[in-house]
Amino acid sequence: MKEITGNSSRVFEGHYSDLGDWKRGDIDYFVVPQRWDDYTTEEHAIWRDLYHRQMEILPGRAISLFMDNLKELGIAADRIPDFDDINKILKPKTGWEVVGVPGPIPVEPFFELLANRRFPVGTFIRTREQFDYIQEPDVFHDLFGHVPILFDPVFADYMEAYGKGGLKAADHKAVYMIGRLYWYTVEFGLIQEEDGLRIYGAGILSSPTESVFSLESDSPNRIKFDVKRLLRSRFFIDDFQDTYHVIESFDELFEATKPDFLPYYDEVRKLPTIQPPELAESDVVLHKGTGEYARKAAENRAERQKQKQEQEAARKAE
Ligand SMILES: [Fe+2]
Repeated sequence: MKEITGNSSRVFEGHYSDLGDWKRGDIDYFVVPQRWDDYTTEEHAIWRDLYHRQMEILPGRAISLFMDNLKELGIAADRIPDFDDINKILKPKTGWEVVGVPGPIPVEPFFELLANRRFPVGTFIRTREQFDYIQEPDVFHDLFGHVPILFDPVFADYMEAYGKGGLKAADHKAVYMIGRLYWYTVEFGLIQEEDGLRIYGAGILSSPTESVFSLESDSPNRIKFDVKRLLRSRFFIDDFQDTYHVIESFDELFEATKPDFLPYYDEVRKLPTIQPPELAESDVVLHKGTGEYARKAAENRAERQKQKQEQEAARKAE
């Protein structure tokens, strides 16, 4: 339950640090074929059930382009999409293609794929036991959650710029900071549309419970997006967010993240980290959360920690 804040490459979404023989430029080092024919009937059925569950929740909650793009990309309800079919539509429009990966890959190769407009998609799908929550991104999270948004031309450029910025951050021991940007935008971002607040973050779009919590619960804070504030914002990887960062448009996101981040990193290193439920003085607060969920989650975390310590003490005493 600890965010890793050093120069670790396992910063978000369970990315691993074993680089093997990978070197920069080996873009396809971690890429694997999808092997669509190998999916079982049960795996397609899991996709279908996940899809239908989200489609009951997302209309009126997801950013409006999500529903349209899902249809245009031919992402179907009844089976796991074939990456080749997706790419036939995605590539001509955005220059992006999806590529298969066996699971979470280390962050530098991940950044490099993004910088080359290739979006890595886990080829596996969760089991029934993992239906509600899976920490490692599977094909449902990656394809259903990310790709319809990637179909937007401005967001597509943002993702490429993010990949390039990520490689630069890796050279300056700042991956943990730029990881927070990914977390609170690409994974858990909200957007203010004309008729209300909507979801564009893939972590929320692929989670039925957080889709409702992020927009409707009184517990979390919702604040206006501010890049430097966000680079200071810690997150937990296995619980709902205590604070959501709201953008007005993808143009705003793209423009705000255009400047060279190196001076930002220097500045942020001198400032204290902001804890997930905490508000900063400079925040433009759209909704001040009651923090009720955050308090319960913190108690549960403390309880789990206590149990772990007791078990360890008992083990040592044996
Ligand atoms: Fe993701």
